[in-house]
Amino acid sequence: MHLYLAGICSLLISLEIVSVANGAATPDECNDTGGENTGMCCKHKREPESKEKQEEYENNMKNCFSKYFGDIQDPPPEDVKISLMECVGECFFNASGLLTPDLKLSQEKLNAKDDIVDPDPKWKAIDEAAVKSCFDKSVAEGNGSAKCKSGSFQFLRCVLRERFLNCPKDVWTDGDECNNYRKVVEKCPNVIPGVA
Ligand SMILES: *[C@@H]1O[C@H](CO)[C@@H](O)[C@H](O)[C@H]1NC(C)=O
Ligand SMILES: *[C@@H]1O[C@H](CO)[C@@H](O)[C@H](O)[C@H]1NC(C)=O
Ligand SMILES: *[C@@H]1O[C@H](CO)[C@@H](O)[C@H](O)[C@H]1NC(C)=O
Repeated sequence: MHLYLAGICSLLISLEIVSVANGAATPDECNDTGGENTGMCCKHKREPESKEKQEEYENNMKNCFSKYFGDIQDPPPEDVKISLMECVGECFFNASGLLTPDLKLSQEKLNAKDDIVDPDPKWKAIDEAAVKSCFDKSVAEGNGSAKCKSGSFQFLRCVLRERFLNCPKDVWTDGDECNNYRKVVEKCPNVIPGVA
């Protein structure tokens, strides 16, 4: 996938938005953010398509973040943060043409644009499988949420997890740090690898 996701990840990191998962039922080990190197466990580089496109994504992200987080001074409680992130994700997906006019996830659009599915043969099948397995799940998860129900954020999280967990061997950094972090990601469904 694109910048798209790489970009939203770096924003998530810089804003410390998705630090942990959903409070109460979260086992302590899910707090483990794995340290700063875990972003390099699964090395995926993708060249930006064009400067214009990159700027467009960045602007979309900035606008969507400031729409929901702009007025917030103190870090909100975890559940509020997640709920706002769902709205940011939805706003961002919509602005990028990945939702239907009534703000629902569209499998057709997600597959059609190469924002999500990386055409690189190394990733294409992994990404397509991720879209497939994440779609229904994310729609269902989004449906229950308080404010923004498209499931865009859940979808993003799911796809990033699938990519990480299915990382091709030749771009995986083999070592204790990454292999232990992988176990955390497997065990903790809300962890967004490389972000939290
Ligand atoms: C993990 O996070 C929970 C909830 O935020 C907190 O109560 C707990 O003390 C944390 N555990 C560790 C080991 O940091
Ligand atoms: C969704 O995107 C369209 C096209 O960019 C825009 O006109 C519309 O206002 C957006 N809707 C929401 C709720 O953000
Ligand atoms: C979403 O939830 C509503 C009621 O809770 C239900 O009627 C609807 O079928 C659900 N839609 C999806 C796509 O799961």
